[in-house]
Amino acid sequence: MGSSLILGIETSCDETAAGLVTTDGRAVANVVASQADLHSRYGGVVPEVASRRHLELVAPVVQEALERGGASLDEVDRVAVTAGPGLIGALLVGLSAAKALAWSRRLPLVPVDHLHGHVASLYLEPELVKPPFLCLLASGGHTLLLEVRERSGFRVVGTTIDDAAGEAFDKGARLLGLGYPGGAKLDRLAREGDPEAYDFPVARVPGLDFSFSGLKTALLYRVRELPAGELEHRRADLAASYQRAIVKALVGRTREASRASGLEQIAVVGGVAANSELRGSLFDAALAPLELCTDNGVMIASAARYVPSVPYPEYLALDAYASAA
Ligand code: KG4
Ligand code: ZN
Repeated sequence: MGSSLILGIETSCDETAAGLVTTDGRAVANVVASQADLHSRYGGVVPEVASRRHLELVAPVVQEALERGGASLDEVDRVAVTAGPGLIGALLVGLSAAKALAWSRRLPLVPVDHLHGHVASLYLEPELVKPPFLCLLASGGHTLLLEVRERSGFRVVGTTIDDAAGEAFDKGARLLGLGYPGGAKLDRLAREGDPEAYDFPVARVPGLDFSFSGLKTALLYRVRELPAGELEHRRADLAASYQRAIVKALVGRTREASRASGLEQIAVVGGVAANSELRGSLFDAALAPLELCTDNGVMIASAARYVPSVPYPEYLALDAYASAA
């Protein structure tokens, strides 16, 4: 096969992930080891616990990706890795593993921005959308509106002024007793409820920004107001109404940004792009493939096709970064 694969490693939060993508953009393996169960009893990701788990999982996850892709390291042309933003200790585990792998084979290394990785989940074959387009990136850590004019990057035109959309889903799920991480569980429960049962306010903030913290407080009050024992019966209606408010806010601002930027083509990426109501509401948009919405190594390898690689051995001093550059 020759040296025709890009190995992508992702450890920015609580997923230890490795993916293989051909240099012409076909995904051939996608392995994700989620630590969600490990963190659920704490109700959120514990950074130090995440770092230690990444350390245990990163080598076997890379190995598994190679096995599933029927490939060996001989076929890997370069190693791509998330350099930031994310939990710094978690990022350092992936970055160190990527450096060691690349260095041992004298391969180049490609440092990838995690957000660029999410956008690049759209660039695999068959390509879902071509720039220019307006992209909604909604995840547990970010809610961004991006103008994408070339595959090598993007420009931020809107962001959240408080919680991220995924965080709003997770906090809402927690208030409803669904456990952590609750986005997907809330999505499932909402299908059994009436989205009009409760009227949750959609915050209006200036420009193209988002705000979700008021929504979470509103849900808290609704839950508290319920007579004892009632939550069980109202849970699905609350979930459906709460989800409706988040999706309305996301869709509204995305359409506004599309008009303001003159970019008619819309795309949606990130963990929250897996939400069934959001996908249904933006049916005319390019939607990231379901298995590539939440964090994975394939999207990192995909982004690496549009990022300059750092030659051997110059990358050994490369650092990870916790917040967006
Ligand atoms: O992109 P991602 O894996 O990690 C970050 O970069 O943050 O996104 C994870 C987020 C979590 O908040 C999770 O609850 C949310 O995506 N999520 C969902 C769904 N699936 C995952 N939110 C709503 N509906 C879903 N189906
Ligand atoms: Zn992410």
